[in-house]
Amino acid sequence: MVEKYGTAEQEKIVRSKTLGELLTWNDLASMKYTWRVALESLRIMSPVFISFRRVVKDFEYEGYLIPKGWQVAWSACMTHMNECIFPDPSKFEPRHFKKAAFLPPYSFVALGGGHRICPGYEFARLETLITIHYLVNRFTWKLCCQNISFSRDPMPTFKYGLEIEIEPKIPD
Ligand code: HEM
Repeated sequence: MVEKYGTAEQEKIVRSKTLGELLTWNDLASMKYTWRVALESLRIMSPVFISFRRVVKDFEYEGYLIPKGWQVAWSACMTHMNECIFPDPSKFEPRHFKKAAFLPPYSFVALGGGHRICPGYEFARLETLITIHYLVNRFTWKLCCQNISFSRDPMPTFKYGLEIEIEPKIPD
């Protein structure tokens, strides 16, 4: 079953504006639910789902000795599917980020973490919120396919694609 996610937050912003009035910093700051939807999308479908680090000194992890000089891979897709961090991890659920501040460190790593965390994080956040705002408010979306089954390789891949129909909304 395809669930519907609320656009109330976005509609409220549109109602507060006159025709053609641009988004403000405060509007973006108020898009809390929209940002949770974006984070949840990035959790499930992380564009950088794996990356590498060189080991700078020997260390032991869960009984395995990892020697200096080795290259290790950190994997966003595995971390994001850990049910101890994100209960019911396969479900698209923006509530996973309701208390984002209380998530354990390095549990959401779609934008990396630590010293090499994505420096474009905030810019990406603004771009994402602005894009979602216009996509939701200016277009109607319709899912065209019935069969939305997918498999993981390791990211979710729709077996028959995921066709959608987008139509411009006629302003009132
Ligand atoms: C949703 C959008 C984005 C995602 C998911 C993303 C993801 C990532 C990830 C996971 C890393 C860390 C890779 C690693 O540690 O191995 C990274 C690094 C980086 N990102 Fe992004 N990024 C996004 C947007 C942007 C934007 C908008 C910019 C620039 C305007 C940007 C510039 C960079 C740069 C320069 C690095 C390398 C940082 C370093 O190695 O010190 N990214 N990004």
